[in-house]
Amino acid sequence: AEAAAGSSFDFPEVEAGVDETHHVAEGYDADILLRWGDKVFADAPEFDPMNQTAQAQARQFGYNNDYIGFIPLGAAGDRGILVVNHEYTNGELMFPGLARVVDGKVQLGDYTKELVDIEMAAHGGTVIEIRKGENGKWQPVLDSPHNRRITVETEMMLSGPVAGHDRVKTNADPSGTKVFGTLNNCAGGVTPWGTYLMAEENFHGYFRGELPEGHREAQNYARVGVPGGWYNWGNFHDRFDIGKEPNEPNRFGWIVEVDPRDPNSVPKKRTALGRFKHEGCETVVNRDGRVVCYSGDDERFDYVYKFVTSGTFNEADPAANADLLDDGTLYVARFDEDGTVTWLPLVHGEGPLTAENGFESQADVLIETRRAADLLGATKMDRPEDVQPNAQTGRVYCMLTNNTRRKADDVNAANPRAENAFGHIIEITETDGDFASTKSRWEILLKCGDPSIAEVGATFSPATSENGWFGMPDNAAVDAAGRLWVSTDGNSKDKTGRTDGLWAVDTEGEARGTSKLFFRVPIGAEMCGPYFTPDGETLFLAVQHPGDEGLSTFEQPATRWPDFDESLPVRPSVVVVTKQGGGRIG
Ligand code: FEO
Ligand code: CA
Ligand code: CA
Ligand code: CA
Repeated sequence: AEAAAGSSFDFPEVEAGVDETHHVAEGYDADILLRWGDKVFADAPEFDPMNQTAQAQARQFGYNNDYIGFIPLGAAGDRGILVVNHEYTNGELMFPGLARVVDGKVQLGDYTKELVDIEMAAHGGTVIEIRKGENGKWQPVLDSPHNRRITVETEMMLSGPVAGHDRVKTNADPSGTKVFGTLNNCAGGVTPWGTYLMAEENFHGYFRGELPEGHREAQNYARVGVPGGWYNWGNFHDRFDIGKEPNEPNRFGWIVEVDPRDPNSVPKKRTALGRFKHEGCETVVNRDGRVVCYSGDDERFDYVYKFVTSGTFNEADPAANADLLDDGTLYVARFDEDGTVTWLPLVHGEGPLTAENGFESQADVLIETRRAADLLGATKMDRPEDVQPNAQTGRVYCMLTNNTRRKADDVNAANPRAENAFGHIIEITETDGDFASTKSRWEILLKCGDPSIAEVGATFSPATSENGWFGMPDNAAVDAAGRLWVSTDGNSKDKTGRTDGLWAVDTEGEARGTSKLFFRVPIGAEMCGPYFTPDGETLFLAVQHPGDEGLSTFEQPATRWPDFDESLPVRPSVVVVTKQGGGRIG
């Protein structure tokens, strides 16, 4: 395939399509770094898919890798800590003998407690040191003291305004400060002080049962979809049954901060950043030293948020930043028709956020962030995913993945398409490069989808080739040169004639709106995690739920990527991309 004219990226474009494996631009290597079931510790058990146990899984790389971050160790650029979220599990692809195809559908058999416990151990995150070997290839360091698995059983602290509140107290935790584990960690972030942020997204799916009659959380849970009933955990663990433990769902839906250097550190759920279905949490140091965190709430008609710390970042003393995320102001975005974005503060006692509306304190505002944002009149968006600041330009990119439920009589300037199947990307220009600004400008960078179909209304530049367009933007990264890369979730043979992948998108000058395909995933997968090392020479990618397309099961998966071994199942994996002969990517 030819390079798209006008692009500032000089790699030869990958040809879009669908097959059983991954493809990277010519001149680059894409190596498998970590697969589901790989050892995270030297003494961990070998992956044995036919004899899985929760104990083994808790020492091995988890399922469905999503966010990836890299925290350098030393100045040489050849060592670092990789942090990886494990968002969720696909039982039908994980467990032998569990799934059957009945009447043209994949059906799951009965879950045992052991299967539930394996799923719980496969969620969460992995912290693992990696190093460049003599051959220049990154490898996990299994005996590193930093290595850690975080699961649904890991002890965590609630910190910030909600800690200790009655609405987060349970039988197991009468203090309302001690939570076990984290759920559905989609994207995340790495802070300027080198901690790992895990965003809790679709937490509602893990709860079952019914609230006791007249319980005060009924309205709160209805707004977030609790109980979602996606998993069987509540049949074996009372805390996931809201009839037995009605406050447990209030302990999820937060941003979790992990110190990856200390494997014994207690992760903290930073309640000041609000409770909703956080896609991610990307941070930037503002020019005045305050830290600004951007987060999308991934649901149709939900919102874009940012949090501005009260304190300032202290580069000289990392410990001074330890609790920076406990104190600050959370804002939600209103996108006006005239191109203004107004950031509305979610502060108890201001405007409608008062006791008359059921908010007795800031803790109530944060527990029911969505309802507070509803009352402030925030703009209902087409499923906000990653919200990525670009520190070099003062701009911020909001991935709006899709919203096929938006009706023609309900469009607005920032969400202009009815039945928005392919999503769009909004660019915010924060005023004078001040990320803490409460009034800034916005415009649409791209309406996604196939530009050759007029009624789709896509706006990729004419220089974009037939491989270069995409639908359903999800995650984004900015490389060392300040350029934007976008990964997708939801492209498929039937929907767009191509798999998900990673596209390089120009935002500056004449090339603005030109997109090129750099990497594509195997059939059924979603592309997550794009993360560049600070030198721009390594790119980490997460291939999530490969094989999750059609009537795919453990026994008969749509692909056996990445091993292509009949004795091994399809496995979500982290891929590491480098340029042959070295140098910056892109
Ligand atoms: Fe887990 Fe918003 O995708
Ligand atoms: Ca996502
Ligand atoms: Ca990102
Ligand atoms: Ca998504």
